[in-house]
Amino acid sequence: MKNILITYRSKTGITKKYAEEIDRYLTGKGLKTAVISIEDFDSNLFKNVEAVLFGCWTNGLMIFLQFPEKMWVKFAKSLPEMKEKKVGVFTTYMLATGSMFKKMKKHLEGKISGCQIELKSKKGELSDADKILLDSFIK
Ligand SMILES: Cc1cc2nc3c(=O)[nH]c(=O)nc-3n(C[C@H](O)[C@H](O)[C@H](O)COP(=O)(O)O)c2cc1C
Repeated sequence: MKNILITYRSKTGITKKYAEEIDRYLTGKGLKTAVISIEDFDSNLFKNVEAVLFGCWTNGLMIFLQFPEKMWVKFAKSLPEMKEKKVGVFTTYMLATGSMFKKMKKHLEGKISGCQIELKSKKGELSDADKILLDSFIK
C-alpha cells in the first residue's frame, strides 16, 4: 500500500491530534498520506488512494448511546462507493465508545466492502497497540 487518506471530524481538537498522530506514523513507514478535516473534504482526494481512515469524536450520553455527530453522518452519506479501498475507522472519547464504531460502519454501509481496523484513543495519542494494528492494515 502506498497512498492513504485520513479524514476526521473534531470539535475540540483531540480527534484532529489523533488523525495527525496516525498520519505521522504512516508517513514514517514510507506511505504517502493526506490528512483532512471533513469540513475541507473534496472527493478528488479519493483519487489514487488505496485506503481511507474515517475519524469522528464520540458523541453520546457518556456511558451509553454513542453515535457520530450529525455533521459526520451527513459527510458519510455524501461519499461515493469505494468498495475497492481498504477502510478503517477511528474515534476519541472520554469514557466509553459503546456503539460508536457500529454506527459509523452502519453509515458507511453499501459504500465500503468492509472495515479492517478500529482505533480509539482518549487523548489522541497513538498507542503501541494502535501501531501494531496499523502495521497489519497497511500490509
Ligand atoms: C456533547 C458531548 C457528548 C459526548 N459524549 C461522549 C460519550 O458518550 N462517551 C465518551 O466517552 N465521550 C463523550 N464525549 C467526549 C468526547 O468524545 C471526547 O472529549 C472527544 O475526544 C472529543 O473529540 P474532539 O476534541 O476531536 O472534538 C462527549 C463530548 C461532548 C461534547
